[in-house]
Amino acid sequence: MSEFRITRTLPEDAMAAALRADVQNGLTSDPKTLPPKWFYDARGSELFEQITELPEYYPTCAEREILAGRSAEIAAALPARTLVELGSGSSEKTRHLIDALPRLHTYFPVDVSDTALEQAGRALVAERPGLNVHALIADFTAALALPHSPGPRLLAFLGGTIGNLLPGERAEFLASVRALLSPGDALLLGTDLVKAEDVLVGAYDDAAGVTAAFNKNVLSVVNRELGADFEQDAFDHVALWDATNEWIEMRLRSRIAQTVKVPALDLAVHFAAGEELRTEVSAKFRKDGVSAELDAAGLGLERWWTDGEERFALSLSVAR
Ligand SMILES: C[S@@+](CC[C@H](N)C(=O)[O-])C[C@H]1O[C@@H](n2cnc3c(N)ncnc32)[C@H](O)[C@@H]1O
Repeated sequence: MSEFRITRTLPEDAMAAALRADVQNGLTSDPKTLPPKWFYDARGSELFEQITELPEYYPTCAEREILAGRSAEIAAALPARTLVELGSGSSEKTRHLIDALPRLHTYFPVDVSDTALEQAGRALVAERPGLNVHALIADFTAALALPHSPGPRLLAFLGGTIGNLLPGERAEFLASVRALLSPGDALLLGTDLVKAEDVLVGAYDDAAGVTAAFNKNVLSVVNRELGADFEQDAFDHVALWDATNEWIEMRLRSRIAQTVKVPALDLAVHFAAGEELRTEVSAKFRKDGVSAELDAAGLGLERWWTDGEERFALSLSVAR
């Protein structure tokens, strides 16, 4: 019998307090920033799914190609009984992995988006008799504790989401991932690779404007949750390649000089005309860099697979 459970590891008021702190700090810093996790309310998760189907957004199909071709090898290298997935979203590509793991006991999808977890979890247990799905509404950048489950444990972090963390945050995050694993357990990590600038920028600035709507959705979240009066039309979506840091930045550029009120924080935020608010970085990687970052966290890179066009990589690293 399949079972679906959903558990909130952080009380709702803790998430609300985290949003307040991030908005207070981000909108009063110079330059202004907001962390990308606040894109993902129900509408943001839906828009992200639309992004994954855009012709310009190659990471999803490239990673799906690797998972479709390599899941049997992954399962042979680590015949996991527990699969944990951080930032699981729709869990759509993960189905390849789930199907390749015959001894899988429990799948733990972890996400900040309760709507994405509900939809994905209910669909999975309906499609796969015998699979236990225990969804966790949690922030993977905060200390994460997992319920007891049988090993070996495979922790998947797909979609290139690790690129949304800044280098210092990544080191902290990988150390916390290592702490969730026992020796011999493994991390399956999806990393988008450095490539031509036009391909990279196109993936974050599509012709249909879906990424622009996704980017501006963070303003709707702040309006709804904190009573702010951001006007989406007063900002332009910007995507640019930072060749020094090898990351894409998404920003919102104020079209005019304006003051935005955030009543829940008793805050008035002034934007000069042309001033930009950074909403996301998406780092792109090279194999040596990934290997070094994993190694520093106590994870030894064992396998590295790319799609046929070498746009995206999946790596399997084992906890020492
Ligand atoms: C780029 S999407 C990738 C989704 C999916 N893994 C894929 O590959 O298509 C990032 C996912 O991570 C979730 N997310 C972002 N920041 C998070 C955080 N700090 N803690 C937990 N989930 C987070 C989002 O809700 C979203 O589902």
